[in-house]
Amino acid sequence: MDYESLLGLVKQRRSIRKFRPDPVPAEYIEKIIEVVRWAPSGANSQPWGFVVVQDPALKKQVAAFILEEYDRTCKMELLREPQMRYDTKPGRFVQAPMFIVICGDVRTKDVYPMNATVNIGDSVFFSSLANAVLYMNLAITCLGLGAQWVSNISMPYARWNVKKLLKIPDEVRIYDMLAVG
Ligand SMILES: Cc1cc2nc3c(=O)[nH]c(=O)nc-3n(C[C@H](O)[C@H](O)[C@H](O)COP(=O)(O)O)c2cc1C
Repeated sequence: MDYESLLGLVKQRRSIRKFRPDPVPAEYIEKIIEVVRWAPSGANSQPWGFVVVQDPALKKQVAAFILEEYDRTCKMELLREPQMRYDTKPGRFVQAPMFIVICGDVRTKDVYPMNATVNIGDSVFFSSLANAVLYMNLAITCLGLGAQWVSNISMPYARWNVKKLLKIPDEVRIYDMLAVG
């Protein structure tokens, strides 16, 4: 790939916050995950795992927990000076036909050198997961789809409730979510 093509791709990737309801074909999901497999990770730990939610009823429940967090965030923003308040509108992620919940296996932190003494585990763990999300976004763009980060899933109330709902094991942490369509 030449530089111009790369620049074209990164310029084309934008956060999309409005979705058509058309389902994402299974082969696209496989293609997205295949790209993510090549993302760099600390000590090649590849801590990521993904839960793809397409079932409308399940998606609705996931969205409900996240929307509660948005409400709370809006109220907290009122504590700040008006000029400092962040626009916390959730966007229309609920309409997206698919959510990808990005998770990380915390046990992979044990592979990082000297983690017990200098505790770089958290930063390497989260940086690796951030790479996965970025690669995922680029793949989504190449396939002609769009995605919105839905970071409120990582706030405690949403994170723990979605974890329980999706039966995600104890040692796996929810990191972030993309609404895709
Ligand atoms: C770590 C991270 C978290 C983000 N969380 C959200 C989010 O919760 N909701 C949202 O609408 N956008 C979210 N975004 C998207 C940013 O707002 C967006 O990337 C930025 O404004 C630049 O716009 P662009 O993506 O269209 O280039 C997030 C982006 C990153 C990298």
